[in-house]
Amino acid sequence: MAATEVRFGVIGLGGMGSGHCKMLQDIPEARLAAVCDINVETLQRTAEKYHVPAFTTHTELLSSGTVDAVIIATPHYFHGSIAEDAFAQGLHVLSEKPLCVTVSAADSMIAAARKSGLKFGVMYQMRSEPRSRAAKQIVASGALGEIYRTSLVMGWYRSQAYYDSGGWRATWAGEGGGVLINQAPHYLDLFSWLGGLPKYLKGETRTRLHDIEVEDEAFATLEYANGAHGYLYASTTEAPEHNQIEICGDRGKIILHGNSLRHFAIDGSIREITVNTTEMWGGPKSVEQQVNLPAEEAIRGHSAITANFTRAILHGERLIAPGEDGLAAVELINGIILSGHTGERVCLPVDRAAYDKLIAHLQTTSRTKGNVSEQRLTDPKFA
Ligand SMILES: NC(=O)c1ccc[n+]([C@@H]2O[C@H](COP(=O)([O-])OP(=O)(O)OC[C@H]3O[C@@H](n4cnc5c(N)ncnc54)[C@H](O)[C@@H]3O)[C@@H](O)[C@H]2O)c1
Repeated sequence: MAATEVRFGVIGLGGMGSGHCKMLQDIPEARLAAVCDINVETLQRTAEKYHVPAFTTHTELLSSGTVDAVIIATPHYFHGSIAEDAFAQGLHVLSEKPLCVTVSAADSMIAAARKSGLKFGVMYQMRSEPRSRAAKQIVASGALGEIYRTSLVMGWYRSQAYYDSGGWRATWAGEGGGVLINQAPHYLDLFSWLGGLPKYLKGETRTRLHDIEVEDEAFATLEYANGAHGYLYASTTEAPEHNQIEICGDRGKIILHGNSLRHFAIDGSIREITVNTTEMWGGPKSVEQQVNLPAEEAIRGHSAITANFTRAILHGERLIAPGEDGLAAVELINGIILSGHTGERVCLPVDRAAYDKLIAHLQTTSRTKGNVSEQRLTDPKFA
């Protein structure tokens, strides 16, 4: 008989994992069936709250027979190995963002997923938003023509107390990067989903405001295979929060700013008008288009991705954020960190061996944090 529900195990019960336990309660056809955390107190509290079996190691949970799928919400370094162990046990995997810390680990996860034939998703919930879906539809329709320029500016804020809330946070050994690997992945995913990946980048990273060993500011110039250029900036040093993506082409542009999406269409082609106009001050005329946003789904945010993942398992629904797509953000993260450390322009796909060597070196420079005041709190925006 065909299954009618998916039994989920949540691995890692901190700020995000506890959020997933809560959100699973409202997703049709999904059920929280087991939990796992290496912190016994957190584990017991969560298991008692939801009346589900508790496991102190992911391997025990995976072999327990209690679940069909897992959501991995541990610190990023563990995403890859836990996912591969889950696939080996015949379980579907929904990984938190970022997919993992290095491109080589991402390759390995993707290979394991393909070999298993199981569902593999990544928690890029911004893809489910109506304006993201509308933007993707505009780009995919070819309405913008050949892309000439892209830009991403993501100015966020994080306090020192945030960085001090976990020993793993903002360390090379525990997290594998700063703003690029923790806060920026959602926008890096959206940016590369809409504009594709560049062929080359030249990046820089800095630690401007916080007492951390990784970057709280990163920026890069990008060059695409067709010669288009782009600029990317991400930080946790800015207020109020600013998020903007621009994808500009020969026939129009889209601008995602805050929660808005604007689409400008050019009457013709910039390239052709440039060649053909005889007027000295003549030029392309653009008209702002009415953007028809798809209806907001009843289930939104993280839950939209988990609900879609559940239906993908049960009914073969197409994944909104397939795990394989998670590689693109890791390419940008690794590329900018590599370029920032070598001072060299980096070619994408990132040289796997070069990045493995760099991150292994950076891990050896990692210092144990003396100022940790542990807190496992869901971002109030998602609570
Ligand atoms: N999609 C989103 O919007 C979003 C938001 C926040 C965090 N995240 C992601 O979720 C992950 C966790 O972040 P967080 O903020 O919840 O961190 P956190 O520190 O609050 O929680 C991590 C939990 O994992 C547990 N843990 C550590 N190693 C483990 C292991 N090997 N096996 C089982 N449990 C383990 C810890 O004890 C802790 O309870 C990160 O990858 C982060 O990027 C995603």
